[in-house]
Formats: sequence, structure tokens, C-alpha cells
Amino acid sequence: MRRVAGCLLVVSALALGLVAVPGPAADASPGRASRFSPGAPGAGDPYFPDMGNGGYDVSHYDIKLAFDSSTKAISATTTIVARATQNLSRFDLDFQGPLKISKLSVNGRAASFTRSGAQELVVTPRHGLWRGTTFVVSVTYAGVPQKIDDPALGISGWVATKDGAVALNQPIGAATYYPVNDTTDDKATYTQTVTVPTGLTVLANGEPGPTTTRNGRTTFRWQMNQPMASELAMLAIGKYDVTRGTTADGRPNITAIGQSIDTKPGQDKVFNQTTAQIVQWESSLYGRYPFGSTGGILADVGVHYALETQGRPVYDQRTSKVSGDLLAHELGHQWFGDSLTPVHWSDIWLNEGFATYSEWLYQEKFNGVPVQQSFAETYAGEKDWSGKVADPGRDQIFDDLVYNRGAMTLQALRLKIGDRAFFQVLKEWPATYRHGNVSTQTFIRFVERLTHRDLGAFFQTWLYQPGKPTL
Ligand code: TRP
Ligand code: ZN
Repeated sequence: MRRVAGCLLVVSALALGLVAVPGPAADASPGRASRFSPGAPGAGDPYFPDMGNGGYDVSHYDIKLAFDSSTKAISATTTIVARATQNLSRFDLDFQGPLKISKLSVNGRAASFTRSGAQELVVTPRHGLWRGTTFVVSVTYAGVPQKIDDPALGISGWVATKDGAVALNQPIGAATYYPVNDTTDDKATYTQTVTVPTGLTVLANGEPGPTTTRNGRTTFRWQMNQPMASELAMLAIGKYDVTRGTTADGRPNITAIGQSIDTKPGQDKVFNQTTAQIVQWESSLYGRYPFGSTGGILADVGVHYALETQGRPVYDQRTSKVSGDLLAHELGHQWFGDSLTPVHWSDIWLNEGFATYSEWLYQEKFNGVPVQQSFAETYAGEKDWSGKVADPGRDQIFDDLVYNRGAMTLQALRLKIGDRAFFQVLKEWPATYRHGNVSTQTFIRFVERLTHRDLGAFFQTWLYQPGKPTL
């Protein structure tokens, strides 16, 4: 799903009932080779060349999955609604690991497929797909998903836990449990329907649907109705205590805590209420909250990080500490990272810089530590000034440089353009590119237009030039 100038280009094809009329029979048409060509096997991210694919644009994922606690296996059917952006003879999806595909169809007819490289699922439909037509891909598969453990990027994907599993996809994990166009700039809506042994709970992005129980198995359904990047999709299966509340503006606020986690009495209420308070406070700074619901999941995953999964962040209990400023960080990402998502991973400071700045704002508002003090301490304490914030390198996307210097860049900008313009940026930047994709260049142009100033040299120093900027 691609969004331009705040207007949805692709209306859900399912809602319109539009399914592509197949093109002319491929083999009967001698011109197929010239009129139809393969979609690209990557989306063009310099850090992750195999991730994502070309030639189509997904509008919806429907993931139906059953989880077996004794074997930790899943069996699933994922149905993808997409529109061809070129005449396609074939196209790739990203799909990784040991899961075995038993059935694959395009527009209801069996299609041939092969798996190549680490993560390419190459699909050749019976007929070429004409540019502009909507098509439906359905993939049925089963097996025990394997997480990714990247030496530089940590754990992502489907992670088995003591009592279930948690899926955390950033940056390269989505393809471990569903076939996907795993690129940040093909956002889509999601339906996740998950069947588990009765007694386990399932949480995911968005709003819950009805839950049904039959023959010892319970099915949960979750719906994310706003466009979502695959790196922000999430699933949590296990024993959870769930707390339901509402935010000040009436949105469902669903939080959950893993039952194996040692909690203080009343912590579930505090977690729920703090989440609602921070969403409300951040809405006053960053503008209307972008999603239909909020919440959070405190889970025992063992990944040692928290993640800004869309609408409902996940906090690993082994994160150094799950505190108000961490909640402010992950909830701040809902505007910066989730609603506005960088096209390329090199621009991840647009997520982490703003999320870290959210922690500084939180410290000032709730703990009386001025933002300028957080800036000064970070500036004084930072040891590594050698990298480029706006192009840190594949293995450095989660480095302190990106978080700290990203936030310092924002405070330096605030000092340069003044509070009034700066807080206008914090509100209007997410409003202008809501549910879209952004880049550092877009941000610089946006601030320059808003302030009527040439900030080229300033951003050059802070974002692109290694070395400690002088104040
Ligand atoms: N992006 C996450 C956040 O800042 C943190 C994160 C995700 C992370 N994956 C990671 C940190 C891997 C270190 C390593 O909220
Ligand atoms: Zn972050």
C-alpha cells in the first residue's frame, strides 16, 4: 500500500470485491516474454538488498495460523491481496527457514513456485498479471519456525518461548513465519487469526475480534486497520494476564503481562494506566494518535529489547528496565517509525532519534530533568563520534550513535530554530506524512520550508559528518 500526499491510493481490494481478471493465457501468447517480465527480487535497500520485492504492492495480509504447544509447530495459510505495478510474468515473496509449503495459488488457481537463496519464494502464476490489476496469493505451509539471530542485529522473527511464542520482526524477521513483501515501504492492513490450545492467549496488533472455543482449541482474531510495515507486525502466544482500558480519547487500551513474570501487586493496572497517560501526553505534543487502539505487552522473550510494534509495543522483561521513559520511547515510535516509516534503513535515526527525544521530554515532564540537561549529559558522555547518523551502516542501525546523536540533533535543531518552530515540527511532521514513508531528505526539506531557512550546513554537520559537532 503506498500513500501519497495523505491520500490512500489503494482501497482495500477485498472490500471492493475486485479480483484480477487473468491476462491472456501465457503460453498461448507469443508476446509474453516481452510484455510480461519478472518482478525484482529485492526492494532496493542498500543494507538489505534481498528484502522486499518489486512489481507489486500489497494492500492486505490475512494470516490464519494454528499453533501446537507440544511440538511448537505452526500450520498456516496466508492470503495476500496485491496490485501489480508492472506486467508480471512472475514475482517474489520473502519467506525464510524450514517451513514447508503444501499449496500455493494465485487468483484461486494453483501456481508453480520455487524457493531460492535465503529468503526468496518465486511464484509463477498460470497467467501473466497485467499492471494495475489486483491479484490474490494464497500460501499454505507448516513447520517449526526458526528465529533469526544476526550477530549485529540481534534476534528477530518467530521466537519460541516457554509457554508459546512471540514474533518480533524488526528488521528482518517477518519472513520467518509468513510470506511477505518485507520492505518498509509496502505497508498493508492485517488480519491475524490464531488458533491455540484453550488456556493460552493470543495478542497481536490492532483491535480484537470475537474469540471462539471448540474442541479444546481457542481462536483469536486481531485486525490492524491502518497501513502497517511488516517489521512492525507482532504476535504473542502464551499465558498472559490481560488488562483492558480506554484512552482519554476513547480508544481501546489493551495491555498484557506474561504470567511467568514476577510482578508487584497492581503492576498490571499501573502498566495499563501509564500507557494511556503517555499516549495522551504524546498526542498533545505529536498530534492525533495514529492508530485505532494502543496498549503494550510485557513478555518473557529473551531478546533483551523492547520493540515499537504497531499500536502495541512489546517489552521484553529482560530489557534493562521497563520504566516510564521506555514506554515513552516505544509509544513515541507510534508517530515516529510506525506511522512515518523510513523507506531505507539508513534513515532509522528518524525513528530512534525522535523516540529517544521522547524519553528526554518524558524525563522533563514527569521527573523534572530538563531536556537540555539530558542533551548535555549525552553530549559529554558520548564516546563514539565516528559514524554517520543518517547512514550508519547495516550493522550499526541499532547503535547508540543512532539513538543518542539522533536525539542530540533534534535538541541542536531546537536551539537553532527556537521552541515555537521546533514544537511545530514535532506536530506537523507526523501529520503531513501520516501512515506514509519518509527519508532524511524529506525531513530536511520539511523543516527548511517550515522555518524559511537554509539548514543544509547544520544537518550536514549533525547527520552526515563523522566527528563531534562543536556547540
Ligand atoms: N528498535 C527498538 C527500539 O528502539 C530496539 C531494537 C530492536 C534493538 N531490535 C534491536 C536494539 C536489536 C538492539 C538490537 O525500540
Ligand atoms: Zn527505539
